[in-house]
Amino acid sequence: MQASIDRLQMQLKEEIAGAKDLNELDNIRVRYLGKKGEITLLIRNMGRLSPEERPLFGRRLNELKAVAETMLEERKKELYSELSVKRWEKERVDITLPGRPFNLGRKHPITMVLEEIEEIFTSMGFKIAEGPEVELDYYNFEALNMPKDHPARDMQDSFYINPGILLRTHTSPVEVRTMEAQAPELPVRIISPGKVYRRDDDITHSPMFHQVEGLVVDKGISLADLKGTLLMFAREMFGKDREIRLRPSFFPFTEPSAEVDISCIACNGKGCRICGETGWLEILGSGMSHPRVLEISGYNPEEVSGYAFGMGVERIAMLKYGIDDIRLFYTNDLRMLSRY
Ligand code: PHE
Repeated sequence: MQASIDRLQMQLKEEIAGAKDLNELDNIRVRYLGKKGEITLLIRNMGRLSPEERPLFGRRLNELKAVAETMLEERKKELYSELSVKRWEKERVDITLPGRPFNLGRKHPITMVLEEIEEIFTSMGFKIAEGPEVELDYYNFEALNMPKDHPARDMQDSFYINPGILLRTHTSPVEVRTMEAQAPELPVRIISPGKVYRRDDDITHSPMFHQVEGLVVDKGISLADLKGTLLMFAREMFGKDREIRLRPSFFPFTEPSAEVDISCIACNGKGCRICGETGWLEILGSGMSHPRVLEISGYNPEEVSGYAFGMGVERIAMLKYGIDDIRLFYTNDLRMLSRY
């Protein structure tokens, strides 16, 4: 009897050592210690033994059971740790591998130029004003001295929501909105950056583009203020050697009106291909605020005067960066966008 228990223990020990995973180990446990397990049955059948045999045998069987449980427990721990080692092994990361490079975002060149323009004018005391892109005909045209059949409207055909509402064709409506909101307080000194829309599409025109409007209204504002401010802007933006010139022009909402040119940034005014041999590059439209516009916006043109200007941001960016096709700004080619 003693011998067969010893054999059972040896056999159990071998089997436990040979268990390859937790599943196998559990099967062994069931086979020996489960309800119908070998050891369980031996214990249950002890009643059949003679009273002399029983104590010795009982003790030995209990010992076996305890030993079996300990061996199972230990093997279980071993298998667990083997398992986690294997798992670690499988999930191992090679921390010496170089990282995967990822592209950093950056500002669009139009945003950069816009911010530069804003910086230049805010440092001269201008505030930033905003207006809606979906605009009333009244602010976009009517209040700017461009009544319904005015021929100046032809150059600014747009996208109409209905006959009275359109996508604004320029940022000039913000002039009227700003004055209306502020009148009669002085001075008005704002720039207004934003998107504008026109029925235009070629290599230098896009149906959507950006403008920055400027407006100053105060007592005694003259053309000299306009010229001085824009000269300062041209030099900050395009270099300290720039000169500007004002060429007579026409806008219904300014009188007199002028196109402003800067001396060519490529040839410095000598004449080259970039400036069409003229030595000058046009950068914006401007003029003295028309008395009718001041009046309709709540200011008395007998007492105050003002100047206004409007520049195309794409045009400034194209000149500054030497880009000759406006569409490059909108096609989102990273090779182009990441150069600036
Ligand atoms: N709004 C005009 C345009 O888009 C530019 C301009 C603005 C001219 C202010 C004079 C004064 O063409």
